[in-house]
Amino acid sequence: MEFPITRMRRLRRNEPLRAMVRETHLDPSALILPLFLCPGEGVRRPVESMPGVFNFSIDEAVKEAETAAAFGIGGLLLFGLPETKDEQATGAWADDGIVQRGLRALKGSSVAKKLVLIADVCLCEYTSHGHCGIVKQTGDEYEIENDATLELLARAGVSLARAGADVVAPSDMMDGRVAAIRDELDEEGFEQTPILSYAAKFASAFYGPFREAANSAPHFGDRRSYQMDGANLREAMREIELDLEEGADMILMKPAMPYLDVIRAAQERFDVPIGAYQVSGEYSMLQAAFGRGWLEPQRAMMETLLSIRRAGAGFIVTYFAQEAAKVLE
Ligand code: PBG
Repeated sequence: MEFPITRMRRLRRNEPLRAMVRETHLDPSALILPLFLCPGEGVRRPVESMPGVFNFSIDEAVKEAETAAAFGIGGLLLFGLPETKDEQATGAWADDGIVQRGLRALKGSSVAKKLVLIADVCLCEYTSHGHCGIVKQTGDEYEIENDATLELLARAGVSLARAGADVVAPSDMMDGRVAAIRDELDEEGFEQTPILSYAAKFASAFYGPFREAANSAPHFGDRRSYQMDGANLREAMREIELDLEEGADMILMKPAMPYLDVIRAAQERFDVPIGAYQVSGEYSMLQAAFGRGWLEPQRAMMETLLSIRRAGAGFIVTYFAQEAAKVLE
């Protein structure tokens, strides 16, 4: 049945019709807001490369979380800027680490019952060199030691769960970390704490602004020996498969917009909840265009989120979570 019998425009004539046949929907409860916790009190320090994003001291983070919860967003993804860094990433697993303290404060506030508190598990914010694992240096050469790192990641996972994390989310890309964290969680009585694994995390230029926000840029080299090569979709499927075998409850794909095809492939293949992380660079490039008046902020923001949802992400980690929730209200 071709034109003039079939006229696609019939169903586009007005908004109620368009709404009726709309295939993809966004819901605030499936939006997760990243928050960066820093030491101090009353601190709300703007991140220069990410307009609208701040480093919050714990008291301010609680206020921000209360506002976000009022808009109905689903949860928070917590990162920390520790007071001091060392080779063992002590701040990542210490009981009084910045995120651990933040979790206790959030758990004691009104947001505890409304938001899923997800703790990022990684070492890069806490190591003196900025890598996501233990570094072994021999002369000019260095190596990120996989197996030695697992123990510290597992320790971090448990201390975050103990502090109140509803979900722990390893983002380091070491092999075997999901199993290591699962074992340790179970051993310590946290068998009900789910693991959201950043299963397919690509070595991406789009993490640039985050490394300013979290002060976590590697001091030498790059992350290509542990994060994935952006050219590889089939390898991403293997990464996901392995993480699920090791006990991951949910998986996170990252970045989002440059990897929509990978999200789609994962969604078709795996029957677990899949999230996507619209990362700092995706946010900042849009903000840069908004600042210059080159893109309509609200429409462009919602279009990117819709594209990620349509590609197959059930939930989205995004710095736009609050702004988008306002639009959806
Ligand atoms: C920690 C981590 C990073 C991001 C999330 N967790 C940085 C990195 O891998 O360098 C990036 C998030 C973003 O860019 O918004 N490993």
